[in-house]
Amino acid sequence: MIEIHNIQKTFGDKKVLDGVSGVFEAGKTNLLLGASGTGKSVLLKCIVGLIKPDVGSVTFDGTYFTNSKLDIKQEIRRKIGMLFQGSALFDSMTVEQNVEFPLKMLTDMNKSERMDRVNFCLQRVGLENANKKMPAEISGGMKKRVGIARAIAPNCTYLFCDEPNSGLDPQTSLKIDELILEITQEYNITTIIVTHDMNSVIEIGDKIMFLFEGKKLWEGTRDEILDTDVKELNEFIFSNRLMRDAKKVEDNSSM
Ligand SMILES: Nc1ncnc2c1ncn2[C@@H]1O[C@H](COP(=O)(O)OP(=O)(O)OP(=O)(O)O)[C@@H](O)[C@H]1O
Ligand SMILES: [Mg+2]
Repeated sequence: MIEIHNIQKTFGDKKVLDGVSGVFEAGKTNLLLGASGTGKSVLLKCIVGLIKPDVGSVTFDGTYFTNSKLDIKQEIRRKIGMLFQGSALFDSMTVEQNVEFPLKMLTDMNKSERMDRVNFCLQRVGLENANKKMPAEISGGMKKRVGIARAIAPNCTYLFCDEPNSGLDPQTSLKIDELILEITQEYNITTIIVTHDMNSVIEIGDKIMFLFEGKKLWEGTRDEILDTDVKELNEFIFSNRLMRDAKKVEDNSSM
């Protein structure tokens, strides 16, 4: 479980995060939802420690992280897997080398143990035969899978995914969402996913935090979100015609 309390961050004269608090539970896919530029990625970076918040705290399973000593931070960082916006694979390394990389950095496994783990993770994401391929030779969806395999390789307890679906077609997006959900449940990982994709919300929104201009305006589950009376969230959800039509069908059937 990850808890954040009163996270604030200002860049120049722009207050990007204005006191965000919340709890992200283990074994669940926790979504950070909001429009472009609303502070989702900055919040994610504050949680993992890539950006230092001006005010506020983050705890990982009860261990205080923000402003902790380096050794405590490193201990927590070892347990973090991260899938960056755009996968961020190393272009000059094969798929196998990409997944092996964090094992070299973070564990004392020998070569054969590392290869076992690499093969296990590649199999887990459905990429058995891609070990020797270069990132340029594989599709966007496959790159995301490699990114997920790399993130979970060192047995992560916490998994952060920034826009795992960006640039993918709807069917591949769904498969990636399902894969993240399955892995989260199977290994009881605390997963936080940044998204602005309503399909992901409906498919895997165990818990959703809606951000608007740096504030948390709503939180709840995928079952609750369509009934919200928060104006900004409604405008966000129903900006899409398909969602508006779905709402009409739902309203008519309940009359
Ligand atoms: N390092 C930085 N320095 C200055 N401003 C920044 C920095 N990082 C982010 N910002 C600003 O903070 C705001 C929020 O950015 P953020 O990347 O969190 O948005 P987002 O919600 O993830 O949007 P998107 O959906 O487009 O990825 C933006 O106005 C951005 O310009
Ligand atoms: Mg972002």
